[in-house]
Amino acid sequence: MKKLVFSGIQPSGIVHIGNYLGALRGWVALQETHECLYSIVDLHAITVAQRPDELRAQIRQTAALCLAVGVDPARSILFAQSDVSEHAELAWILNCHTYMGELRRMTQFKDKAGKDQEGSSVGLFDYPILMASDILLYGTHAVPVGDDQRQHLELTREIARRFNNLYGDIFVVPEAIVPKAGARVMGLDDPSKKMSKSAASAANYIALSDCDEAIRKKIKAAVTDSGHDIVYDEAHKPALANLLTIYSLTVSKTIKELEVQYQGQGYAGFKQGLGGALCDFIRPIRERLEDWAARRDDLERILQEGAERARALARPRLQTIKDKLGLGVRNTEKV
Ligand code: AQP
Repeated sequence: MKKLVFSGIQPSGIVHIGNYLGALRGWVALQETHECLYSIVDLHAITVAQRPDELRAQIRQTAALCLAVGVDPARSILFAQSDVSEHAELAWILNCHTYMGELRRMTQFKDKAGKDQEGSSVGLFDYPILMASDILLYGTHAVPVGDDQRQHLELTREIARRFNNLYGDIFVVPEAIVPKAGARVMGLDDPSKKMSKSAASAANYIALSDCDEAIRKKIKAAVTDSGHDIVYDEAHKPALANLLTIYSLTVSKTIKELEVQYQGQGYAGFKQGLGGALCDFIRPIRERLEDWAARRDDLERILQEGAERARALARPRLQTIKDKLGLGVRNTEKV
C-alpha cells in the first residue's frame, strides 16, 4: 500500500515562489509515489482577522493555484479544511494532551504575534495543535513543508508519541519532507527574513500570479549585497545567495553553472537573466491559474468531492481515537 502524505496551504490569496519551492513542488512530485491529501487550511487562516466574502474567494483562488501548479484531483484529495469537521474535533483532544510551555516555545507564534502576544487570538497560539490534528488524523507518513514548519512538525511528532504511550498505537509518527534547496526562500526586499505573503510590501515576494512586468520590476528592485561578482556566499552575500537559489531551482541549472554563465556581467546582467527566467517559469502557471479561476463550478465540485473523500477517511479514524479515550457512548463495546 502507498504511504500517505498530508500538507496544507493557507488561503491568503497570494501564493509566492517561496511557497512553491518550499512546499508545492514537493506536493506535485509526491503524487507519483504516495496517496496525497492537500488541504486549503481555512481554519488556520482565521487565526488572524479575515473578511468573510474575501476568505471564500481566496479558498477558491488557492485551490485554483494548487491545480495550476499540478495538483491532480484524480490522484490527490484536494479539500478545504473546514469542510471536514474532524480536524477541529481532534484538535480539541490534542489540546488536552499538550502543554502551554510547549506552545510558548513555538517561534512562529512569537514572530506573528510580535510584541502584542496578549492581543493575539488563542487560535494563533494554538495553531500548531490544529496543524498536528490535520496531520495525525489521517495516519500521515510524510509532510512536505518549508523550513519554517520544522518546529511544528517536531511538536506533532512529540504529541503522537505521547498519545501512543498513553493509549496504544494510534498515531503514525510523521516525517517532515523539507527540500535541500529552497526550503527557506528569503524576502526580495529583506533577505534576513523569509519571503512572506503577509509582508508589508508586495516587493517582498514574487507571486505565482504576477505578470511579466511586475516580475521584472521586483527582481530589478531586489536588494543586493555589496560588490558585483556573481558568486554564491550565504554568509557574506545572503541576498545574492537567495536570488541564485531561486534562479537555479526555476531553470534546473546548478548554482556553479549560473556563476560561470554570469561571470563578469555584474548584478544588472544577472538580474535581467533571472527576471526573464522567472517570467518564463511563472507564465504557464499564471495562464493555467487564470483558466482554473474562471471555472468556479469545477473548483467547487473538486473541493466538495475532495471533502467527501477526506471525511470518509477521517470519520472512522476519529471514532477509533474517541473510543480509545472512552469518549461518548457509541461503540463502547469495542474498547
Ligand atoms: N519563504 C518560504 N520559503 C519556503 N517555503 C515557504 N513556505 C512559506 N514560506 C516559505 C511554505 O509554504 C507552505 C504553505 O505556507 P502557508 O500558506 O501555510 O503559510 P506560511 O508558512 O505562513 O507562509 P507565508 O507565505 O509566510 O504566509 P504568512 O505571511 O501568512 O506567514 C508551507 O509548507 C510553508 O512551510
